[in-house]
Amino acid sequence: MSETAVISLFDRIGGASAIDRLVESFYQRMDALPEAKVIRAMHPDDLARTKDILKRYLSEWTGGPRLYSVERGHPRLRQRHFGVAIGEAERDAWLLCMRGALNETVKDAAARQELDIAMSRLADWMRNQIDNPHDAAHGGCGGHCGGGGAQH
Ligand code: HEM
Repeated sequence: MSETAVISLFDRIGGASAIDRLVESFYQRMDALPEAKVIRAMHPDDLARTKDILKRYLSEWTGGPRLYSVERGHPRLRQRHFGVAIGEAERDAWLLCMRGALNETVKDAAARQELDIAMSRLADWMRNQIDNPHDAAHGGCGGHCGGGGAQH
């Protein structure tokens, strides 16, 4: 019987130092790109703490050390973003920064593509304006949507 080792994305992209480079590059782009001005303005001037949290999150999310939940608890990421208005434009700006950062810092093409797909899904899920089909179906319905007790 052979054992198949499952190697995490965290290890495939180069571990903690790769996550560091990815997050630094991501926020450099958010600082510099005119397309990202709107989402940059949602963040604090000093990004040190924000960077640290995203590094912890991505470490855990890619299957590396669980640095996020020990400090922050369950991610509940969508809920944590309710304080900022995220529509298609904000999602696209976020992804523009993240794609640039992935292209710059992740050399393994297959791993890069997997991350791109997964991040795109997550960023799309984070939309909390009326253009998110989820919210259109369940938000602001005042109970008349016949959700039958579905969680809104
Ligand atoms: C789609 C567009 C997105 C926008 C505009 C956005 C914006 C923000 C903002 C303004 C904050 C607060 C930062 C602070 O106060 O320091 C934040 C926190 C955070 N974001 Fe996003 N975000 C987006 C998508 C994502 C995605 C796709 C991920 C995951 C891959 C993510 C991960 C996080 C994490 C981990 C935090 C910290 C949560 C905590 O407080 O524990 N965000 N985001």
